[in-house]
Amino acid sequence: MCGIVGYVGPKSTLDVLLGGLRRLEYRGYDSAGVSIIAPGSGLQTRKKAGKLDNLVADIEAHPLPISHIGIGHTRWATHGAPTDTNAHPHLGGSASKLSLIHNGIIENFAELKAELLAEGTKFSSETDSEVAAHLIAREYEILGDLPTAFAKVVNRLHGAFTILVIHEDEPDVVLAARKNAPLVIGLGDGENFLGSDVAAFVEHTRRAISVGQDEIVILRADSVQLQSFAGAPVTFEEFTVDWDASAASKGGWSSFMAKEIADQPQAVADTLMGRLNSDGSVRLTEVDGLSVADIKAIDRIIMVACGTAAYACDIAKYAIEKFSRIPVQVELSHEFRYRDPIVTPNTLIVAVSQSGETMDTLMATRFAKEQGAKVLAICNTQGATLARESDAVIYTHAGPEVAVASTKALTAQITAGMLLALFLGQNRGVVAQETLLQLGQELLKMPARVTKVLENLDDVRALGREMANAKSVLFLGRNVGFPVAMEGALKLKELAYIHAEGFAAGELKHGPIALIEEGQPVIVIVPSPRDADSLHPKVISNIQEIRARGARVIAIAEVGDEQVGHYAEHVIFVPQSENIFSAILTVIPLQVFALELSTAKGLDVDQPRNLAKSVTVE
Ligand code: G6P
Repeated sequence: MCGIVGYVGPKSTLDVLLGGLRRLEYRGYDSAGVSIIAPGSGLQTRKKAGKLDNLVADIEAHPLPISHIGIGHTRWATHGAPTDTNAHPHLGGSASKLSLIHNGIIENFAELKAELLAEGTKFSSETDSEVAAHLIAREYEILGDLPTAFAKVVNRLHGAFTILVIHEDEPDVVLAARKNAPLVIGLGDGENFLGSDVAAFVEHTRRAISVGQDEIVILRADSVQLQSFAGAPVTFEEFTVDWDASAASKGGWSSFMAKEIADQPQAVADTLMGRLNSDGSVRLTEVDGLSVADIKAIDRIIMVACGTAAYACDIAKYAIEKFSRIPVQVELSHEFRYRDPIVTPNTLIVAVSQSGETMDTLMATRFAKEQGAKVLAICNTQGATLARESDAVIYTHAGPEVAVASTKALTAQITAGMLLALFLGQNRGVVAQETLLQLGQELLKMPARVTKVLENLDDVRALGREMANAKSVLFLGRNVGFPVAMEGALKLKELAYIHAEGFAAGELKHGPIALIEEGQPVIVIVPSPRDADSLHPKVISNIQEIRARGARVIAIAEVGDEQVGHYAEHVIFVPQSENIFSAILTVIPLQVFALELSTAKGLDVDQPRNLAKSVTVE
């Protein structure tokens, strides 16, 4: 994790760095810092423990000079507590003329540190990163050429890292290296940028280059050079960022999360756009690499993801199996990778990740590729490592998601999962095409239905506020409602620090029902009464079972469900839809419930404690 930004050009560097850090703060918020080189006053560094606001206040109190080159960092602590001294940047060399920021972990730092200590180097922090700063400064003193010194040292580092360096004696160049951690270049006119992701600079430019593994960047205001760690020149391709800069700002909302919840009709519509025809047929040009023969040869799909994205997989599984009859296994990436799973060339791996940088998911997909499987990514971030390393990518067009707790990325992932399910179904030809086309037409109606859900959330908001002191909330669901229940519980844990569990409603009687006592709040996702599989009466029975034991039941049900009101204390209605698509709707009241409850407790909904949005360590 950690957010990284670099700039060289005519603008006020501090404005560029602080603006970039603001949009990268989701990657970590234990501390923040910047270094700039100012004509006449040399290298200047400021860093502060705590959120970015602490650093901003410090700079306001003691302004920094105008400068045209600099680097900035927002930290999610790994080595060393989140203190001012452990904050990045770290300075290197006896004259402290070199400044370095780092995202990742340098695994061999202990041995490198011992080498430096033996030479008498003094360390100011407990971080692994400072070791790299001193090593590069030392090599520069010996070799006299910064890119050469930099390349020599990055070749000695093991682990995962993105490193950015500036040096007072070379005030026109930012050096960067990437190994197993993200790095993107932003191309400007007479100015250039570096960022952990495009959000760092999308306000200034939409022209970008994704830096490959084991590559070094030599960035000047008027030039960009890429080379391998071995020194060979690297060719690169420019891409255009399709995110709107304003999408990465709060735009008047109380929090990024509130805004991102409201963005969901657009996120779903944009993810469908150009992929679903009015007759319900699906066009996924992204997977053109897979021929009909390839698709027919797939004998199993394994979906890998973490956190909220894994619930998107759980939901997609129901649709893929139903529409294409291909068996689907959903695996948490970290569990999949390290249990010697069975993967064959006929296995299709579907890796789902908002950021495309979650290390657990990257490791899982790399492993699967080594076994000969094809990897299809569902990803929200252009230029992300997962997208680069997969055979095909279905981009979710949710736009930048800044709040740590995922909302619009999830509904976009579910939508992409439904598109994939219809696509596979239409190509496999096992389920009647007419049925699949009808379902496709239904899917087209989802953005309007999401809008309707958002218009009717006052009751759920009131419930969230009223339940601010709840000690525990349980969530129940069946079929696609089961992962929705799990997601509802995750949101509450993440945002409100409340004990929350999601269960399959059918599993209740096998254990969880013992948790029910007088007044225990239980949120139940109720399937459509129109559903052919008759799930509705089963869930109504489950509600009766918990009511009989004193539970306070809050039901999320579809408009027109006349029965549910007899059994639940509160009912939150969402529009009617095909049950298989209903997760896109029923999850929204749960997002809003967690947001409201957390806000009522006075917590920071965008940056919950201990978490980071993009987890780039295993
Ligand atoms: C972290 C975040 C979650 C997110 C998960 C997967 O744990 O806090 O909100 O769902 O990572 O992230 P990804 O970027 O792979 O979707």
